[in-house]
Amino acid sequence: MNIATDILVHEHDIILRMINVINNAMQRLNSGEKIETGDLRQMVDFIRNFADHCHHAKEEDVLFKRMNEKGFPVQGGPIQVMLMEHDEGRRYVQNFEKAIDEYEKGNQDAVKQIIENAGGYAMLLTEHIQKENNILYPMGNRIFDENDQKNLIEAFENVEKNIVGEGVHEKYERMVETMEQKYML
Ligand SMILES: [Fe+2]
Ligand SMILES: [Fe+2]
Repeated sequence: MNIATDILVHEHDIILRMINVINNAMQRLNSGEKIETGDLRQMVDFIRNFADHCHHAKEEDVLFKRMNEKGFPVQGGPIQVMLMEHDEGRRYVQNFEKAIDEYEKGNQDAVKQIIENAGGYAMLLTEHIQKENNILYPMGNRIFDENDQKNLIEAFENVEKNIVGEGVHEKYERMVETMEQKYML
């Protein structure tokens, strides 16, 4: 039986690779090196469009909804915590982007803001992914039957086709590779 959340776990792996790049870039910034704003903006782009749009859309619009239909409460349960963490991530990214604007203007205090927000995001998402991989997804998989899994996989494919768009997923996988070559030496 194909397990739908394996698709999400694979996306987590790609997100974690970008998080490694972000952590590395933040260490460099912290030690006084300059980082190209174009690269910082690519990190924002990746987080918004791959982590949030490609991935969180599958969780929020498909998986969590299906778990809720199967009897998992949203309020007061782990799904609510996951949703709150997605929102927390979005706030970090907004502030990360604002700090890049300031950095570009030459505001030296902006370095601290970038490190705080990009680093905060990286830490939040690393823990968030562990909770999903090790707790939330297995909880769902205990109650999904073969038919549920099939429907979920189909729904994920529809998200890719209708919401994300063709070639977008691949574009961000390539972005991670390019950034790794630059930052993970
Ligand atoms: Fe999530
Ligand atoms: Fe996730």
